[in-house]
Amino acid sequence: MRIRYIVVFTGAGVSRESGLPTFRDVDGLWIKYPIEEVATIDALVRNTEKVLEFYNIRRRKILEAKPNAAHYAIASLEKKYNTVVITQNIDNLHERAGSTKVIHLHGLITQNKCMCPTPHYYDIDITDDRTIDLRLGDKCEGGSQLRHNVVLFGEAVENMEIAYSEVQKADIFIVVGTSLKVYPAANLVYYTRPDAYCFCIDPDESLNLPANFCHIKSRAVKGVPWIVNFLLENPQEISSIMKEGKIVLE
Ligand code: APR
Repeated sequence: MRIRYIVVFTGAGVSRESGLPTFRDVDGLWIKYPIEEVATIDALVRNTEKVLEFYNIRRRKILEAKPNAAHYAIASLEKKYNTVVITQNIDNLHERAGSTKVIHLHGLITQNKCMCPTPHYYDIDITDDRTIDLRLGDKCEGGSQLRHNVVLFGEAVENMEIAYSEVQKADIFIVVGTSLKVYPAANLVYYTRPDAYCFCIDPDESLNLPANFCHIKSRAVKGVPWIVNFLLENPQEISSIMKEGKIVLE
């Protein structure tokens, strides 16, 4: 197959080696912070200050983090292929690594939005420390409370239609660092074309993957550059890697 179009679908695992925690690993965010207190639409309404503070802390940690080898390898695919990144992550590390087509399903922490019926979105000025944190009483021009542009549990996920259509166009579909436990995002693995080459890069070998995926058991910083190097230097090797079914890199 001639490879033209690559879609990379990422979760928190791709940013773990940038120092950002995942959600469901032993040191994950949802182990430390109960979801129902900080990450549901009900919590935002009931306890706005606590939710704003939780995302202020996450925003500052993300702004301090740097893209890692996996983010840069994904961005380097654009040198040769039409590449789209679909991410569940609210960090902007793919963009900072150079990826130019990034679809965020769960929001983007460098933006605020208001709570008007039709929300307005605002890019924050990350160079101005005064604009980093959101406080109760920070309002949009329509008078509604500002919040971080993050999709909370109980809210509709954004950009799913475009994400489905991108996956259906992919010749190569690479899933990196997601437990595939949160829907509808996790449905993407079922939208690949029958002739697409599908890979999953993750140290967890218990993931619930469709049979057409080749699992590369590895951390992102090792597994992503490894497969990207083949795609850039020896794309004809991809079909034989697929036939392996499972590869252990660690
Ligand atoms: N490299 C690659 N993958 C890793 C690494 C690593 N170094 N470390 C952990 N992982 C894998 C884990 O094995 C797991 O499969 O990353 C995945 C992290 O899973 P989750 O913590 O569930 O994160 P994610 O899948 O992104 O969560 C999806 O859930 O709570 C919501 O909105 C939140 O976007 C998030 C969504």
